Amino acid sequence: MATLLANAIVNGEPISDASRLGYYIIIATAGHDTTSSSSAIAMWALSQFPDLLPRLQADPALIPQFVDEAVRFASPVSHFMRTAAADTEIRGRTIRKGDWIMLCYGSANRDEAIFDKPFEFSIDRKEARHLAFGTGPHVCLGQHLAKMEMRILFEEMIPCLEGVESAGELEMVASSFVGGPKHLPLRCFMR
Ligand code: HEM
Repeated sequence: MATLLANAIVNGEPISDASRLGYYIIIATAGHDTTSSSSAIAMWALSQFPDLLPRLQADPALIPQFVDEAVRFASPVSHFMRTAAADTEIRGRTIRKGDWIMLCYGSANRDEAIFDKPFEFSIDRKEARHLAFGTGPHVCLGQHLAKMEMRILFEEMIPCLEGVESAGELEMVASSFVGGPKHLPLRCFMR
């Protein structure tokens, strides 16, 4: 992908340095780190909850819920910042115009007031949608692509798996922005 971007020609001209950098960052961080972290958490869930794989094999229509719960559980983007455009109040806290607000997506996705047993991995959730893709005018532009990529990955992989086992400790990336599993040793048994 990086080679394609480096050599991209549009209307007979190489694209600008700014466009090349922008596209590269979108592919590498917005597009790749987030989706791979969420897919890794989905694999982790298969290794932790042995009933999950036979359930998904018996009813592949559950795969989109499985993907969505993996994205909620992973919440690979930990935060973005906003600047308040006007004075306001949120749950009794005064926010003044110009204040910085830190949107903590992982925390929102574990809000006990919204999610039943938020620290558990469950594909049976009926609650309001999670916020791993953000919300409002800047909501993730690639959310449908990300969910489609993960759905296709698991639709293809799940029928081939006999079982998934943990083969070591899950180690997370030390990051305050985009993170997820750094090492996730697994043993996969194929059919
Ligand atoms: C599981 C995968 C993904 C997660 C969890 C995720 C999460 C997010 C979050 C939290 C934001 C910020 C939203 C906000 O500021 O309110 C965002 C923005 C964005 N994402 Fe994603 N993302 C994912 C996949 C992708 C993919 C695959 C692409 C494109 C290839 C992508 C492209 C973008 C872009 C361009 C923005 C900026 C949108 C804007 O500022 O208007 N993302 N994403």
